[in-house]
Amino acid sequence: MNQLEKVRKYEIESEKMIPEEQRPVFHVSSRIGWMNDPNGFSMYKGEYHLFYQYYPYDIHWGPMHWAHVISKDLIKWEVLPAALAPDEAYESGCFSGSALELEDGRQMLMYTAHLEKENEDTGAKKITESQCIAFGDGVDFEKYHKNPVITADMLPADFSDADFRDPKIWKEEDGFYCVAVGKSRKDGGAILLFHSEDGLQWNYVSTLDKSKGNYGVMWECPDLFTLGGKTVLITSPMEMFAKGLEFHNGHGIIYLVGKYNQEKHAFDREYVKSLEYGLDFYAPQTTLTEDGRRILIGWMQSWDNYMTPQDYKWSGMMTVPRELSMKEGRICQLPVREIAGYYQNPVSYDHVTVHHNEKQTLAGVRGRVLDMEIMVKEGSYRNLTVNLAQNEKYVTCIRYNRDENTVTFDRRFSGMSGDMLENRSFYVKDADGRIKLRILLDRYSVELFVNDGEQACTSLIYTPQEVDGISFETDGEFIMNVRKYDIVVS
Ligand code: FRU
Repeated sequence: MNQLEKVRKYEIESEKMIPEEQRPVFHVSSRIGWMNDPNGFSMYKGEYHLFYQYYPYDIHWGPMHWAHVISKDLIKWEVLPAALAPDEAYESGCFSGSALELEDGRQMLMYTAHLEKENEDTGAKKITESQCIAFGDGVDFEKYHKNPVITADMLPADFSDADFRDPKIWKEEDGFYCVAVGKSRKDGGAILLFHSEDGLQWNYVSTLDKSKGNYGVMWECPDLFTLGGKTVLITSPMEMFAKGLEFHNGHGIIYLVGKYNQEKHAFDREYVKSLEYGLDFYAPQTTLTEDGRRILIGWMQSWDNYMTPQDYKWSGMMTVPRELSMKEGRICQLPVREIAGYYQNPVSYDHVTVHHNEKQTLAGVRGRVLDMEIMVKEGSYRNLTVNLAQNEKYVTCIRYNRDENTVTFDRRFSGMSGDMLENRSFYVKDADGRIKLRILLDRYSVELFVNDGEQACTSLIYTPQEVDGISFETDGEFIMNVRKYDIVVS
């Protein structure tokens, strides 16, 4: 039995150990073992395909495989057998990458072969990363016999061959393009552009942008697309430093907006912003739907906080897929509209007044798997708080401070027994006390979208599932409308 057959057998046998009620309801979760980055997020034969970084044999990272799920509507997912295992001499892990439907009906995967080799004499470890391809029919894939197709020796001399990965492929009239990340010895993380006429033979084209010491030491998981007339690059920098409330320390996610010169293949950056403000979000990837929507999905965990309960047999979830739009130069994100197809038990309140120092609850407004929007219309207050997953012992808070124009997510009392990153604040628009908070809960996750997605903040809470209270508090008084739906996927 080869490595992939072994994994496929193991998946079927071992996933039975995971009780269904332990899984999130509408978020993709690791079939068994470890999950990180989304890979190959794309349409193939009319369905959405999503692969992910996967180590089935442990709930911690290990030699990377690709797992595989599909969906018709981005909310209800079906599991397929693992797609790739690291089974060639040129790889000890199949790292992140992307996918594409070819005109001849085949599905093409492009991924990074990560190779760690020990020098027999010195024992020193040498890492090389190169880009590979595989072709398939939507379920089974065969690695190209001339892999790797892009190697680090094709890069400008200043680039390291240990940090060169995560190709994102797309097709244009003159052939295939991909962006990948590299590490310049002088300028740190960089996004590199490659071209191929046939998808098999590739050439280095240009370096689109570099960190230059400002945004971390290495970049990961690049994406390139146009949105609202602008060219956008997304990347996930490593070892970043915060600037005020932007660009939190460690592994973050930024987007670079600018103009792209098609002839020179040059990107002229205009500005950089944080894509997300949550504690558990990394390595997002986008795809385009048939009706022209740019959809983003991210890994709903982070390299800096590991929170999976030790008795679980799975670790890792994806965010809800999000529709992107460009508003006043900022990327806005909202859950895909398909989620409304899974709404049940609607509860709606208009013109509710929340009074000073009172924990206001509303009949029917509770739960851990839901979509809720709170529209604060007016009021005289300085702070307001939405309490989630609450009982006498636990609470997770979303606070709006009107004087500072900040929203804070706080999971200090969400039930973690370890010392962990607990809260984060970010700036929101000053709108005279009015604010919209849309909150998605799915057992372990809180995805917050402020003011129609101008800011998104994604974090995990492992609060016991029966703790499902929701309440509202303020130091003044405010008036709000509330819409709440349970989300049921059967
Ligand atoms: C990002 C990342 C990628 C790499 C993969 C390995 O989270 O480090 O750069 O391809 O994870 O699992």
